[in-house]
Amino acid sequence: MTGEVVVPVHVRDLTHADLPHCGWSGSALHLRSVAIELERVAAGDAEYLAVCAAGSDLPLAIGGVDYEQTPTAGMIHQLATMPALQSCGLGTVLIAAAEERIRRRGLLRAELGVEHDNPRARALYERLGYVAFEDRPDAWDEEAPDGTIRRYETMCAMMAKDLRPA
Ligand SMILES: CC(C)(COP(=O)(O)OP(=O)(O)OC[C@H]1O[C@@H](n2cnc3c(N)ncnc32)[C@H](O)[C@@H]1OP(=O)(O)O)[C@@H](O)C(=O)NCCC(=O)NCCS
Repeated sequence: MTGEVVVPVHVRDLTHADLPHCGWSGSALHLRSVAIELERVAAGDAEYLAVCAAGSDLPLAIGGVDYEQTPTAGMIHQLATMPALQSCGLGTVLIAAAEERIRRRGLLRAELGVEHDNPRARALYERLGYVAFEDRPDAWDEEAPDGTIRRYETMCAMMAKDLRPA
């Protein structure tokens, strides 16, 4: 037997109270970095969004916008959809909401970085109108399942989208 369920979703700000329910997005170290981003939201330097299903307030997809890295653009980052719900359109909703937040700040450019070995995510961003403009090295700490932490270095394609109305 097969079936189909259409579930309305809404987007709201992520809060510290959500973090225990976002373990699917990464390691404990990653969740600490999200908590740091939420402190930056309080300072006005960033925003952090959650897509939730109607009737449930649990985050199904989350992602942040940084306003400090590039003064003329909002930098969308840390995008993640609950693994079992990927490819259902939640990431598309999340990115559209992030772009709306960037516009509300009076900025007309969204940027994001995608690793060279993540072609599926890159294809999604291209479908949504993002265009690669340069390659940039990036690095962050990663936590292995045994708790050890190592520095992960990678190369990202930086992509941008003009948010002016067509
Ligand atoms: C990248 C990521 C955030 C995208 O979120 P998502 O919720 O899967 O995104 P969407 O569902 O909107 O779009 C992705 C796919 O679904 C398809 N899609 C979009 N809307 C759809 C819908 N209503 N029904 C069916 N498929 C749909 C898209 O065409 C795309 O196709 P693909 O699966 O062949 O790539 C998510 O896949 C993820 O968390 N990946 C792991 C972490 C990661 O790579 N993060 C990004 C770092 S840059």
